[in-house]
Amino acid sequence: MAPVHPQPPADGFDRPLFVGAPNIGDRAAFDGYVEQIFTSHRLSNGGPLVLELEQRIAERLGVRHVVAVSNATLGLQIAAKALNLTGEVIVPSFTFIATANALAWIGIRPVFADIDPLTHCLDPASVRRAITPATSGVLGVHLWGRPAPIEQLQQVADEHGLSLFFDAAHAFGASHGGRMLGSFGRAEVFSFHATKFFNTFEGGAITTDDDDLAELMRGMRNFGICAEDQTNMLGVNAKMSEIGAAMGLVNLNMIDDVVAVNRANWQAYRDALARVPDVRLLTPSAEEANNYQYVVLEIEDGAPGARDQVLHALRERNVMARKYFAPGCHRMSPYLEQDPDAGHRLPGTEEVAARVLVLPTGTAVTPDVARAVVAIIDRVMTTRESDRRLAAVPEPAPGTAGRASAGTRPSPASAGSRPTPATVAAMTASRRTALAAARGER
Ligand SMILES: Cc1ncc(COP(=O)(O)O)c(C=O)c1O
Repeated sequence: MAPVHPQPPADGFDRPLFVGAPNIGDRAAFDGYVEQIFTSHRLSNGGPLVLELEQRIAERLGVRHVVAVSNATLGLQIAAKALNLTGEVIVPSFTFIATANALAWIGIRPVFADIDPLTHCLDPASVRRAITPATSGVLGVHLWGRPAPIEQLQQVADEHGLSLFFDAAHAFGASHGGRMLGSFGRAEVFSFHATKFFNTFEGGAITTDDDDLAELMRGMRNFGICAEDQTNMLGVNAKMSEIGAAMGLVNLNMIDDVVAVNRANWQAYRDALARVPDVRLLTPSAEEANNYQYVVLEIEDGAPGARDQVLHALRERNVMARKYFAPGCHRMSPYLEQDPDAGHRLPGTEEVAARVLVLPTGTAVTPDVARAVVAIIDRVMTTRESDRRLAAVPEPAPGTAGRASAGTRPSPASAGSRPTPATVAAMTASRRTALAAARGER
């Protein structure tokens, strides 16, 4: 039978395919900026390239203020400080650990709420249940560039007098209701880390339409300095360097091309996966802008271990898929020790964490590569499906054609009772061999 998908190279890909391989813009343009930096001797401290990058991002996102920072973790901390948050802030557990750590590091307790398993974003009802007298804010995450349920979260925040802000680390270039993410809630924080859709090596930006908040955050980003040898607040060093901004300016010129590449890869994955059993591909809204930076699957066939079996098969062939963001922050230190039973309140998170798999995309991947990656997944899942079907087929009566070998058949004494695992394994193996022979495989 002809293969459904193009075959991956027999021994796997000759180079590793990473999730989050950096997208790198025009090298000559970058070198031009480097020349400019060395000529001007402006390396940091709000130099012209940082200012230009902030301006261009503000125009692109349609937001009043962009505060470029050295990374999103510090950006989240500055936003939380500027919003005067204390006590507890509600966050999803299903996110990168930085979302929770950013808060814990400044003495705020991250309280984990559950996600909607369909969207992987915060479930507003779970947020509501997590509110206590100590709650001061809600930090939503636009996971995979998919907007959190902004209006519902805003309603919860308004009802309880909480500050709502967003971890938009994944969401540069995504929109909600036709409006670019960046000006929702009190503030939003983007990551421009090397693995992100748009990078400045390391870096990030806090965005807001609030003039006072923006001024406060600019001060906090620079030690609280307001004039020479003077400070007017507590601050930290979270400044973006000129070399980072240079990378950003170069990469900004090509983000539409990167979206096109990511979208073509995503469509190739979608089309090929449509024929693979028990795999769901998370689908961004077709009406909204999205960066298609994350190809996110849920792998589930009712029997345990499917996701990890697929992951193993991919890794063996140099496809470095990831289990982002399993097992969830609540199962990682120090949060696990603080509340070992949190999982009972987070069924959606636990469910998704057991199924999720993220595949490589970006400029290092092509649609052909995507189809070859799916062929590996297809082989695992189709075999699992065949095994399940065969295990469910009742044994033919003794003496009829097509019976399993006598040695593997349950004894008359056990007929009608459940076969032992060893018996099932032996039956399954012999049937798989027969099926493979029928398919012309070995
Ligand atoms: C959801 C999320 N939040 C926050 C961060 C932290 O970003 P940064 O590495 O820029 O500090 C990341 C980064 O990987 C992330 O994925």
